[in-house]
Amino acid sequence: LIEAGVSRVVYALDDPGATSGGGAERLRDAGVSVEAGEQADAAHALIDGWLTAQRLGRPHITVKWAQSLDGRAAAADGTSQWITGPAARADVHRRRSASDAIAVGTGTVLADDPALTARDGDELLPDQPTPVIIGTRSTPADAAVHRHPHTPLFYETRDLSAIVADLHARGIQSLFVEGGPTLASAFLAAGLVDRVLAYIAPVLLGGDRVALTDIGVATIDDATRLVVDEWVPLGADLLAIARPAADTDPPHIAPSPNEGVA
Ligand SMILES: NC(=O)c1ccc[n+]([C@@H]2O[C@H](COP(=O)([O-])OP(=O)(O)OC[C@H]3O[C@@H](n4cnc5c(N)ncnc54)[C@H](OP(=O)(O)O)[C@@H]3O)[C@@H](O)[C@H]2O)c1
Repeated sequence: LIEAGVSRVVYALDDPGATSGGGAERLRDAGVSVEAGEQADAAHALIDGWLTAQRLGRPHITVKWAQSLDGRAAAADGTSQWITGPAARADVHRRRSASDAIAVGTGTVLADDPALTARDGDELLPDQPTPVIIGTRSTPADAAVHRHPHTPLFYETRDLSAIVADLHARGIQSLFVEGGPTLASAFLAAGLVDRVLAYIAPVLLGGDRVALTDIGVATIDDATRLVVDEWVPLGADLLAIARPAADTDPPHIAPSPNEGVA
């Protein structure tokens, strides 16, 4: 751009990468007029995996669950498949396909034997997330996850920080945590969640199989406040796309010399 004599550059986001960032500064030093922040939110959503990897040394982590209107993730006997309808389930499969990896706890593998593939009906979608199984119990040799197109990663530990660091080292930039309640809660309690997807179905299940268990909130002052970016109707269900309130500002947007960044 400098050699081509471009006089003004408008861009969305700074690259926080130690070696890949710094372009705006270089352009400014060369006398180019540089403005940041154009469509920053949209750009942030496009490259959140890269941004999280550079800033935090771990994948961008989405925790997803499906719940009844009364906040239950399963019926009294532990069955939980088909809480939501076909539109919500199709949405989950598209989001699985867009993720590098999909994680469940051993409790979900033992209860549901999920395939952890991304599908359109019975067809596998072209992009499949790597399955990640977390927990100290072993998984049956004939579990469906062993037939996944990608070799599953088994972490026989509950140390989530070590796991996400290892996933980062493997080049995984986005992790889709699909539960169950114990694992989802552990990610939240550890502060390892960038986005929450709650699929809410108009059904009542009652009982004690709540969508989240202990997330480290002892009193209302400690509540994990969220900002909802979108409420998405999906057939009869509703999807809340939210993030922890502390992360409301798109971080690392360089202020424009001419105008403030919204
Ligand atoms: N509605 C939904 O969206 C949804 C989604 C998935 C599952 N479910 C339902 O949830 C139920 C299973 O629930 P669940 O809570 O047992 O499943 P889970 O969260 O998948 O598994 C729990 C296990 O995860 C392991 N784990 C790994 N890291 C941990 C950590 N940091 N802290 C605590 N545990 C950790 C532990 O296994 P070890 O003891 O082996 O260490 C723990 O027992 C089933 O009824 C299933 O149908 C519902």
